[in-house]
Amino acid sequence: MKWIVEQSTEAFNRRSAQEITEQIGRKADSRISFATGSTTKGIYRELAALYRQGGLDFSRVEAFVLDEYQGASQANPASCLARLTAQLFDQVNMDASRIHFFDSMAADLHQVAEAYERNIRALGGIDLQVLGLGANGHIGFNEPGTPFHAVTRVVDVGEETIEARADMFGSRELVPRQGITLGIKTIMQSRKIFLFANGEHKATMVEQALFGPVTPDIPASVLQLHPDLTVVLDRDAAGKVRDRLPEDAVE
Ligand code: GLP
Repeated sequence: MKWIVEQSTEAFNRRSAQEITEQIGRKADSRISFATGSTTKGIYRELAALYRQGGLDFSRVEAFVLDEYQGASQANPASCLARLTAQLFDQVNMDASRIHFFDSMAADLHQVAEAYERNIRALGGIDLQVLGLGANGHIGFNEPGTPFHAVTRVVDVGEETIEARADMFGSRELVPRQGITLGIKTIMQSRKIFLFANGEHKATMVEQALFGPVTPDIPASVLQLHPDLTVVLDRDAAGKVRDRLPEDAVE
């Protein structure tokens, strides 16, 4: 497990974007699964800035949307696809035909989920999984209690997420109660994982997920078992673990 701790939110965003850039530099046709949320929003802003500075090429990147709300199409600005498009895909030279997303309006979402999982395998698997950390330890829409062998599937959206996204959808009632997400097993099969967390409100979960027992009660704890995990934190999110990190982790 590699740790990076930056002193400010700006430095955190910059460093996180640089890490993603390096992956694309190593493999121009990287298959990358992208999370949405307030954490990654700042990172994608930096990534777009790095692109505008030149030298970063997304044209061969194969992008996968990590999760999606049922019934939220690209026309809904709150959908994960719409946010990723606005925050990242439209800001860089992404090839639209290489953006993989869930047809969340489909009548049979289970079929959509199965086809998504199959497609990931057929294309050769995810090279890099970009993850945010839910305050309750969720990753994607994999809420506490999700078995580690879960693959891409239809799930109930957790209470915490409903609460957190109420403003975005307009009200609590308007947040879809179901969604589709890459499964824990699918995420763990990625060659490389970046876990990004910033802010004091993530500090307890960073400690529990990465220093506590590996348990389905805290989905992110499974990441301890991944052979190539990089955790990027800002000072506040690292508040409860700093003393336990290797010295060179802290910038
Ligand atoms: C959301 C999403 C995740 C995201 C996480 C953290 O509910 N389903 O993909 O990474 O929660 O969100 P945030 O970065 O806003 O804290």
